[in-house]
Amino acid sequence: MLISVDNVVEEMILAKDIYNTSGAILLKEGAHLKKSYIESLKEKGIKTIHIKEESFYDKNIQKVVKESTRKEALNIVQDTIERLPFSQDKNIKQITFIVEKIVDELLNGKNIFMNLLDIKAVDDYTFDHCVDVCVLSIILGKNLNYSRDELIELGKGAILHDVGKILVPQKILKKPDKLTYDEFEEMKNHTVYGYKILQNVPEMSESSIDIVLSHHERYDGKGYPNGLKGENISKYSRIVSVADVYNALTSERVYRKKGKNQEAIEYLTAMKESQFDSYIVDIFIEKIAMYSLNRNVVLNTGERGIVVDINRKFPSRPVVEVLYDESGQKLLRSYCVNLLEHNSIIIDDVVN
Ligand SMILES: [Fe+2]
Repeated sequence: MLISVDNVVEEMILAKDIYNTSGAILLKEGAHLKKSYIESLKEKGIKTIHIKEESFYDKNIQKVVKESTRKEALNIVQDTIERLPFSQDKNIKQITFIVEKIVDELLNGKNIFMNLLDIKAVDDYTFDHCVDVCVLSIILGKNLNYSRDELIELGKGAILHDVGKILVPQKILKKPDKLTYDEFEEMKNHTVYGYKILQNVPEMSESSIDIVLSHHERYDGKGYPNGLKGENISKYSRIVSVADVYNALTSERVYRKKGKNQEAIEYLTAMKESQFDSYIVDIFIEKIAMYSLNRNVVLNTGERGIVVDINRKFPSRPVVEVLYDESGQKLLRSYCVNLLEHNSIIIDDVVN
């Protein structure tokens, strides 16, 4: 792919040799571009170079949190949730540690809203879901200009928001069919169970614990366990409820195939006046859930591809790398289309 030297970033891989005016090789194909090389190319007046496309995309497809951090978080959350309700040991130092780590990675990351939907869960719904909801909530909090301390408080409640489910019988949790009235009442109890599990844990603030109790409260007062309305629901809980519902709708569950991002956005939009804080939903959709890197999309031309770059001011018009033509044939050579420059092309569908 031919790109302007101005857009070259470190670690891209050169796809063709670069020569100077007298024909001597300046840089050989395969070179990993370093800052000093890029500056030297600019000094020598070289305007464009060929780079290997994989390297370009690898560079852009960064995870929102490091894979190692995510794995560590999963282990810690599983360990904590399985220990806390059944032990005298109320120490949650590891939770504080991992939430601080996630917050710092998110505060230091440049491309937060571009990469979000990469944090997808598959198998073990509960623990993955805890980590996803934590990450989503922290990103939302960051977009609401929360301080580091506030983000940590929010993240600790978010990562443990469903801790009470450990006390709900598995046959209810994993039931593929609709729950009976009694089963649903028991399921609802996970909020109160969670509150009780955490209330004597010294490292959890009241605001963090409130998330565990109130993340199923709804703006119109039809939520549980206390039927709180509007601003009587804490802001942290309002944030986590949006992250929780979004993640549940887009994750693989026992009773439902993985939902589409688009459908989850439509659901949140439809419910934003009644169930959620509409301001938080607006921020969530605009900054987070629109389109993210690596999403598979279908264009209205019938072509299919993946989102490879986001236009920050117009998140609904990303850059798409087209990989398949309208008849479903894989292209021998993919190409990129910037939807910002092609107004007639829109994304018809987002597919998993
Ligand atoms: Fe819950």
